[in-house]
Amino acid sequence: MQLLPGFRDFYPEDCARRNYILSVWRNVASRYGFVEYDGPVLEPIELYRKKSGGELVGQLFDFVDKGERHVALRPEMTPSLARMVAARERDYKKPLKWFCAPSFFRYEKQQRGRLREFLQLNCDILGDATPAADAELLALLIDILRGFGLGPEDFVVRLSDRDAWMQFASGRGVEEARLLDFLGVVDKLERAPEAESRRKLEEFGIPLEAVRAFIAHPEAEAGKLHGILADLKARGLDQFVTVDLTIVRGLAYYTGLVFEVFDRGGKERALAGGGRYDALLEVMSDGKVRMPALGFGMGDVVLANLVEEVPSAAQRRAEWLAARRSAEVYIVVAEESKRAEALQVLQLLREAGWRTDYAMGAAKVGKQFQAAEVLGAKFAVVVGAEWPEVKVKQLALRSEASCQWQDLPAFLKK
Ligand code: HAM
Repeated sequence: MQLLPGFRDFYPEDCARRNYILSVWRNVASRYGFVEYDGPVLEPIELYRKKSGGELVGQLFDFVDKGERHVALRPEMTPSLARMVAARERDYKKPLKWFCAPSFFRYEKQQRGRLREFLQLNCDILGDATPAADAELLALLIDILRGFGLGPEDFVVRLSDRDAWMQFASGRGVEEARLLDFLGVVDKLERAPEAESRRKLEEFGIPLEAVRAFIAHPEAEAGKLHGILADLKARGLDQFVTVDLTIVRGLAYYTGLVFEVFDRGGKERALAGGGRYDALLEVMSDGKVRMPALGFGMGDVVLANLVEEVPSAAQRRAEWLAARRSAEVYIVVAEESKRAEALQVLQLLREAGWRTDYAMGAAKVGKQFQAAEVLGAKFAVVVGAEWPEVKVKQLALRSEASCQWQDLPAFLKK
């Protein structure tokens, strides 16, 4: 039986890698005062047809359930989040700073950086319309990537403004109902063949050159984004961002600031993307709740590629993984007649919080030491003829000492 395309098995080493990514995400998000939430994996398909829009609607994993409901596995979090917050808006003090990091599903063609099931960190700030909130979210995004050991030479956040594109298009006579289609063409400009973009833009009566000329002059936008840029500069994070109008984002609900993160080498797909969706809660609550909001999503797939390639990031990951090897202490049963005593020591150390392992069956002492090394244990505790005294070996240093078995927890700590 083969794996389905775009899905992954997680062997222990893959889980360790995934846990590393999750730990950095959670750690930095909580340093910024974000709290974790989650929602359901399955939602009514209408949620995405109406709220996500764009390319994503064609990528849904959807089916009709036994109750005749047309449902979809979540391809993104933003519509669910907007629904959740709109429903219990009064229960939380504004601004809300919320994050989650579950699995999402998109029926995309499997390729480097894109799978059909992936993890995505979502960080969103709701209830604050100021550029200070924009900058706070961007600073978090940057610090998360820095948390992996990535620097300004490795990635860049490209900032843009969807409002500017809306004005550009309506100023050239694009009808409101077709604005999203127009944005879709701009979104693909960098990836699609030139002739195709030119033809599609002509359908809107706009020459490709006019679009290119607009993109070539981001100064006006930099003026509008001044508050955000100044805030990031004060934090010393301005070298991570640039104004770049080629970014418009493929999802329907964005209203103003939009951004995407790319590797500087330009080899990978987007690492993260997000923006403001100031009207989504109102739409979601039939006009009852108006709340400005912005956020981003960061997948684990492109991120893992970079973390493997960039030396400082790879080293940080290796250190984290080494510190979390499966055992810290290995109990070596030097004489089988002392197995019951060894089990007593095992239980004592585990209860004291030490990650402790041992050979479940009789084995030569040399074999037991080998097993200790494979597990990356720091200490071997040898239980043998000296009982109730035990030998403690510090494996990397090849040093040895002895103590009474009851004193082990304190002895190891020291
Ligand atoms: P998105 O641009 O569709 O935005 O996805 C954000 C990130 O998720 C991408 O940059 C990429 O890292 C990852 N991603 C997306 N699709 C895949 C895939 N098929 N395989 C692997 N990784 C993938 C959103 O989803 C918005 N809801 C983000 C957001 C949150 N906006 C506001 N709040």
